Amino acid sequence: MIRKEGKQKVTSSATLECPPIESTPSRASIPGNLLRIDPEVFDSSFGRGPFVVGHRLTSHHLFEFARLLELAKALPPASVEYNAGNLAVNQDPNLTPRNGLSAEETIDRIAHCNSWMVLKNVEQDVNYRDLLFRCLCEIEAQGHPYARGVCHREGFVFISSPGAVTPYHVDTECNFLLQVAGKKQVSLFDGSDRSLLSEEELERFYSGAHRNLVFKDNYQHKASVFELRPGDGLHFPVTWPHWVKVHDEVSISFSITFRTRATERRDVLYHVNHYLRGKGWTPTPVGSSRLRDCLKYNAYRVVRRVHNLLKRDST
Ligand SMILES: [Fe+2]
Repeated sequence: MIRKEGKQKVTSSATLECPPIESTPSRASIPGNLLRIDPEVFDSSFGRGPFVVGHRLTSHHLFEFARLLELAKALPPASVEYNAGNLAVNQDPNLTPRNGLSAEETIDRIAHCNSWMVLKNVEQDVNYRDLLFRCLCEIEAQGHPYARGVCHREGFVFISSPGAVTPYHVDTECNFLLQVAGKKQVSLFDGSDRSLLSEEELERFYSGAHRNLVFKDNYQHKASVFELRPGDGLHFPVTWPHWVKVHDEVSISFSITFRTRATERRDVLYHVNHYLRGKGWTPTPVGSSRLRDCLKYNAYRVVRRVHNLLKRDST
């Protein structure tokens, strides 16, 4: 069951690569597919606004606790992040409390230890990689015009105690959050609303600042609130701010993410604007002038190419 509040607007774009679209008999519900996608909704909203999909991963063996424990042990330590789960929506990332447990203990006791954990880049395990790629191929098969030049396919598994909060933040990737077990409430905010998210904040974020943002209580009335149950999935357009709260059961979610030609370009443009602002300029906001965006992007590419040539010559 999904409840929506607030107004949704068209903002940014996104993209993907896989089997030829002609090979898919229909874009709607294909037997054997892992995702259930409404083609019309996808066409109108992909990369521009949030929308809900269905999935068939709720009984998948890769999300059983024993298998997730095995995965957590096999991943490099840097790919296993966890902390206390009772965070503020406005959490200062430098003051995030630890939970005092090991990663294995955290998974073992997740129902009672009030914690939040993410297993990052689960594609490092071939089984999770296969599952991630299957899901993303189904997304690409929708043939959306923005779904070109997909790269950086990455998967994340979130394991959370009842009541755990993910603070208010933005992400640079196109994301579909697939709810596998338990229920989650997602408050998602329009990424084009500059009263919520300024150009300067975006420039700092794309240039390396922490993803957590300052949340003010008067923002909440602008949220679209989605109640995700097992079998639901939610599309997050790039840099749409959001925060998440788990309901009263343990939650497991599979986040399937990717970047595209369009998102890589956007990344470059915000970097360039950050640089220009640092030099005392007031850069034209990304997306407001096609010509200026084009000039900045191509200037960046030329500078980078020259830099790489000079670097190669000096070695
Ligand atoms: Fe996120």
